[in-house]
Amino acid sequence: DLTVAVGGSPDEVEYWRKLVEDFERREGIKVKVIRQPTDTDLRRQTLVVALVARKSDPDVFLMDVAWVSQFVESGWLEEIRGVDPSPFFRSAVTVGTKAGKVYTLPLYVDCGVLYYRKDLLEKYGCPVPKTWGDLVKCSLRVKEGGKDPYEFLWQGAQYEGLICTFLEFAVSAGGDLKDLDSPQNVRALTFMRDLIHTYRLSPPNTYTEMKEEEVRILFQNGGALFERNWPYAWALHNSEDSPVKGRVGVTLIPKFRGGRHASCLGGWHVGISRFSDRKEQALKFVKFVTSREVQIKLALDLGWNPGRKDVYKDLTTRSPHLEVVRRSCEVAVPRPRVPYYTRISEVLRRYLNSALAGSMDPQEALRKAKIEIGKIEDLYR
Ligand code: GLC
Repeated sequence: DLTVAVGGSPDEVEYWRKLVEDFERREGIKVKVIRQPTDTDLRRQTLVVALVARKSDPDVFLMDVAWVSQFVESGWLEEIRGVDPSPFFRSAVTVGTKAGKVYTLPLYVDCGVLYYRKDLLEKYGCPVPKTWGDLVKCSLRVKEGGKDPYEFLWQGAQYEGLICTFLEFAVSAGGDLKDLDSPQNVRALTFMRDLIHTYRLSPPNTYTEMKEEEVRILFQNGGALFERNWPYAWALHNSEDSPVKGRVGVTLIPKFRGGRHASCLGGWHVGISRFSDRKEQALKFVKFVTSREVQIKLALDLGWNPGRKDVYKDLTTRSPHLEVVRRSCEVAVPRPRVPYYTRISEVLRRYLNSALAGSMDPQEALRKAKIEIGKIEDLYR
């Protein structure tokens, strides 16, 4: 059998099973779907274990754009031959290309967005927030009312997702990941901490537990007013059994006054293991999931933002949510594209998380992170 490793929310994994059946019928190739965890770090680890041991399974897997460079540089991927990369977003294709050879193709491009409860914003006369100030003001108003959920949920646990949320707050304050302890970044991190400890709008478990699915499920159960998440949450929030179905709006991530809207550039690529013993079938599978037809299906059924540019004209009229996602992607900011990125990320998330926990001053945390990351960069220079 061809083995394909996929992860994500439980519904996504179920969806993959159906998609795979379709592929099996068409191609007469049997596929075994391996279910990976939801968390990107855990997904990376399980793949690294198999690849370092040169295991022939999984043959095909998905990779977070955050660690694609590492996989390419490690020589773990088979070149994807015979697929024209030109219909895909060029910047995304570049991440998985080395010496003119394409090793990964973007299955979807992720950009952070803000979800809100349309019904509650209306009830309390709040405008759709454009600035962080708007968001805090509205949440506090709802909190004062004492009747409805006022929380703002975002990913603050010590994992890769925290880098994404921090990047968004930082860039929305005029900062970046280059000059880590800039006043703009300090302002952003202080605000994140204050959301939890001063305004008390984000729950205390933000920094211990909150990852994509924790945030998504709580919001979906009606437990919050605002939610920072990825496009995938949209389809789930509006599914038949969702308590908030039809009551959710989506917009750009707010900015600080004087700053700009920003969104973390995420997404998942598909690739073939160099150690695969089913390379021909694997290539057929990659062609299938990146085909126009399947890319349109994934966008409409899962709310994913396609990695192919040539399907967008078929989509916007059918899905206004994707219009917001498209605008968010226009202001998206990538994380550093270096093969040792995960090492940087591990240091940064540790310090960011200490600041969120209140055990380290934000400025001190960023200063220390900068020093430690500088040492890692020196090693690879
Ligand atoms: C999403 C993004 C990915 C990011 C991850 C962080 O899966 O697509 O790029 O690293 O979230 O949790």
